[in-house]
Amino acid sequence: MLCRAGGLDRRDVLAGLTGVAAGGLNLAAESSGTDVCLRGDKIMDLHLSCHPSGSSPCPSPPSSPFSIVNFTPPTGPVRVRQPAHLADAGLVDKYKLALARMRALPDSDPRSFASQAAIHQAYCDGHYQYQVPIRPVPGGGMPPMPLQPPSAFDVHFSWIFAPWHRMYIYFYERILGSLVGDDAFALPYWNWDAPSGMALPEMFKDPASPLYDANRDPTHVDAYVVLDYIKGGDPVPFDPVAVQQHRYNQVVKDNLATLYNQMIRQGRGARCFLGERFCTSLEVNQASGTAGTLESKAHTGVHIWLGDASKCTTGYDGAQHCDNDMGFLGTAGRDPAFYSHHANVDRMWHIWADQLGGHRGFEDPEWLDTSFVFYDETPRPVRVRVRDVLDVAALGYRYEEREPLQWLDCRPTSRRAPKDTTTGTGGAARARMPAPVFPLRLRVGRNVVVPCVRRPTRNGKKGELQVLVFDAVEFDPCRDAKFDVVINVAPEVAGGVTPQWVEYAGSFVNIQRGGAKPGETIVVMVQLPVEDVFDDIGVVGDVDAVNVVLVPRTEGITILRPPTIVSQKC
Ligand code: C2O
Repeated sequence: MLCRAGGLDRRDVLAGLTGVAAGGLNLAAESSGTDVCLRGDKIMDLHLSCHPSGSSPCPSPPSSPFSIVNFTPPTGPVRVRQPAHLADAGLVDKYKLALARMRALPDSDPRSFASQAAIHQAYCDGHYQYQVPIRPVPGGGMPPMPLQPPSAFDVHFSWIFAPWHRMYIYFYERILGSLVGDDAFALPYWNWDAPSGMALPEMFKDPASPLYDANRDPTHVDAYVVLDYIKGGDPVPFDPVAVQQHRYNQVVKDNLATLYNQMIRQGRGARCFLGERFCTSLEVNQASGTAGTLESKAHTGVHIWLGDASKCTTGYDGAQHCDNDMGFLGTAGRDPAFYSHHANVDRMWHIWADQLGGHRGFEDPEWLDTSFVFYDETPRPVRVRVRDVLDVAALGYRYEEREPLQWLDCRPTSRRAPKDTTTGTGGAARARMPAPVFPLRLRVGRNVVVPCVRRPTRNGKKGELQVLVFDAVEFDPCRDAKFDVVINVAPEVAGGVTPQWVEYAGSFVNIQRGGAKPGETIVVMVQLPVEDVFDDIGVVGDVDAVNVVLVPRTEGITILRPPTIVSQKC
C-alpha cells in the first residue's frame, strides 16, 4: 500500500500532516462519569507518523521545520460568504475562474485542487497513524498489555472536527482568491438549513463547469436534500415555487426539525455539539472520540445523500469504499460542493457560538492548543491553533444571512404515541416484554424496547442535563450505520418517529471511514441529551423510568451494554 493520498506527490500533503505530528494534541486521564479518557501526554512526531508499506516509503520530514510560520490574523477586506443558491452571476463566474486555475496547477503545487482534496483524504483515510505511548505502570514494572498496534488518525469523530475544517476551508478560500487577484473572494455557502437552499445549488450542476463533479447520486442532484439521511426512500423533486410559498412538504419539515435537534435540543453544551475529546488511550478498538451533533446530523446526512453508491475507490485500508465522492470521507474533498457544504457547517458552528450561547466551546487548553499546519496562498506552511480560529471576525470573514433561521422555531410539538400507552401508573415505564439480552445485535425492521431504564429523579448539579448513554456501540467503520432512539413509544410505531416528533431522542450515525483494518470493528460511546424529550412527553417529577426504543436503520450495529440515564454536564 502506498502511503499517499489520491495519486498526489507525497510531499504535497506533508505540511498538513507534519503539523499534526508536531502539534499539541494530547492524550487525555480523567475518569469521572462518562469521561474515561486518560489525560496527559502530547502526541509528538514519535506518536503520529506515516507508516510505510512494501516498497513505498513515507515522505521525509520537511527540509526545515523552521519554514513553518505561526498563524497571524489576516488583514485586508472582510470576505462575505453568501448563500450559494442566491449567489449572483459575478460571484459564480469568479468562483469558476478561480477553481479552473486551481485545477490547472500541477498536482505537486500545494495550492492545486488535487492537493487540497488530498489533504482531506490524508487526514481521514488512515494515511497517518499514531502510536499510543507506553505508560509506566503504577508501582513500576512492565505495562500489562503489549504495545497496541498503531491507530489511524482522523480529524472526524471528535472535538477536532469543527476547528480543523474551519482551518481547511479558510486556506482553500484564500488560495482561490489569490488565484483571481481578489482578496475579498469568499466561498459561497450551501444554505441547506433554509428551505430554499435544500437542494444542491445550481452552480455545481453544469457539467461544463469546474464546479461540477461527476461522482454524485444522479437521482439526488435535483431533489430535496434529506438532512437525517441514511439510505433509501424515494427522492422528492425540489420545488422552488412551493418553497417560496412556504408550502412545505414532510421533507422540509423533517429537515427543519433535524436542525432544531442538532442545534438546540441535542446540541446543548460543547461536548454534545462539538464532540468529545480526542483520545488515544482507550482500549484497542475503542474510537478516539465521539462526534457532536454538528458533525453527526445534517453534516453527515448531506455527505451520504450526495455520494453515488455505484462509484467506489479502494481506501488506504485496502477495502472498497463506495458512495464517492461525498459519501466517503477519503474522496469527499474531490467534489467542489464539499467546500460550500463545509462553509455551512462552519456557519452552523458560528451561529451556535454566537447566538445560541455556545461561546468559545471548550476552555480546555488541550483543545485550544491543538494545532495543524496548512499551506497558505503564498504558498507557505502556517501553523494554526484551535484558539486562533474561534472567532470568524478575527479570521476576516462573515456570513451574510439572507433569510430568517426557520429551524430556530421548530421545537417538536406532536406526539406520536398517545400518552400512557406504554407507561404505567404515574407515567412510570412498565415492562410489557422481556428485556433484550446484551450484547444486542440490531436488525433492520426489528425495533427493540429496552424497558424501564431508570432515570435520576432528583435534580443534578447546576448545569447538568439528563443524558441517555450507550457506553459501547460497536460497528463496522467501513459501513454507514444508523439507529434512532425514541422514548415511550410502542415498537410497532417507533419507525415512524422522525425528528418532528417529541418522542424522538436522537440517533447514532456513522459515515463510512477509512483507515480500518479489514474486518475490524470499533466501539464508541453515544450520548443523547433527553431532558427536553422528557419535559415534552411528561416524564417529570418522580417518574423514575422510561422505555427506550431502538430503531435500527442499518445492519451491522451491536450494542454491547444496556443504556443508562445519568445527569451530567454536556
Ligand atoms: Cu472532513 Cu464533511 O468532512
